[in-house]
Amino acid sequence: MVKLVCFVVVVFMAAAAAMAGADRELKVGYYEKTCKDVEKIVNSIVVNSIKSNRGKGAGLVRLLFHDCFVRGCDASVLLEKSEMNMHPEKESQANIGIRGMDVIDAIKAALEARCPNTVSCADIIAYAARDASRYLSRGGVDFPVPGGRLDGVVSRSRDADAFLPDSAANLTGLVRNFRRKNFTVEELVILSGAHSIGVTHCTSFAGRLTAPDAQINPGYRNLLVSKCGGVSPTATNNHVVVNNVRDEDGAAVARAMPGFAARVRKARDYLDNSYYHNNLAMAVTFHADWALLTGKEARGHVVEYAKNATLWNVDFGDALVKLSKLAMPAGSKGEIRTKCSAVNSYHH
Ligand code: HEM
Repeated sequence: MVKLVCFVVVVFMAAAAAMAGADRELKVGYYEKTCKDVEKIVNSIVVNSIKSNRGKGAGLVRLLFHDCFVRGCDASVLLEKSEMNMHPEKESQANIGIRGMDVIDAIKAALEARCPNTVSCADIIAYAARDASRYLSRGGVDFPVPGGRLDGVVSRSRDADAFLPDSAANLTGLVRNFRRKNFTVEELVILSGAHSIGVTHCTSFAGRLTAPDAQINPGYRNLLVSKCGGVSPTATNNHVVVNNVRDEDGAAVARAMPGFAARVRKARDYLDNSYYHNNLAMAVTFHADWALLTGKEARGHVVEYAKNATLWNVDFGDALVKLSKLAMPAGSKGEIRTKCSAVNSYHH
């Protein structure tokens, strides 16, 4: 009898643990009954923040990737350093330049005021990334996002080091990295298109400043060298450069690569398939971007998405939904945080 009770208790606890974190069923309209208008509130805060700084939108799109590739979509990327956790994901070099957390905090504050302890930070990241994509693509990228994720309690810098791709990676490394998360070569190419927006630090593409002509458009390399103040950027003098040559200042582009002057646009951070055109012209920032041209399959997809902007919009939306469904490791504890930057046990 005692054995039976123990068995029942163990089974119950295992089920509760699974419910707590991984294997939760996500649903579109998850908060319809518990917190009406969640998605409207998220959208209005995201749109307002992008209107005052378009870069915030790029930050939010990247945040989804960096959250979900490390321990699943559990808002672990948002946790701040604390006495209980001296090395959270944020500390990883792979998270250099991570931004948009202030937008997530503003959304969380608005939602806590409306329906306390109901909406997870992980869901907020997913909704916000969708809304930022929609706004920056002028409606081209749009898709329903399921909700129901929980916030994790674990965040380790070394996990971010291990799971986020290196900007100097070659194609084999990138494919391996994405395959580990069950993403195909095609999805790697689709998601890399997010580099049509946002910025990067010079140290993140230092190798490109001296890369051979066969790997980078020499005019573009000169432009990057001038923006970075030389070929050896250092952590103490780390300039920030736009990811998309289209977003550079016109005069600098006209000087370094006259053939590209016509590509420069007034509106920065427009999310579209320009990344693929830039890539075929060897004018992309990271070695990992250029590396997509080095394999037959990946290159074929780069050509395909350069030709078909609408297809990329749709496929990018599908890939972001898939990304947003990556679950926490089995058995992980989950909760609805009251504050996105700290776990509840620490916060209370
Ligand atoms: C394929 C492998 C990838 C590598 C190696 C990579 C690497 C990087 C690096 C190094 C930066 C600049 C960080 C800095 O120096 O400030 C960056 C920026 C960015 N990445 Fe990626 N990334 C990859 C995939 C992705 C994916 C899948 C997404 C989203 C779907 C994404 C979205 C972005 C965005 C939007 C920015 C600009 C962020 C901002 O301006 O705040 N990246 N990426």
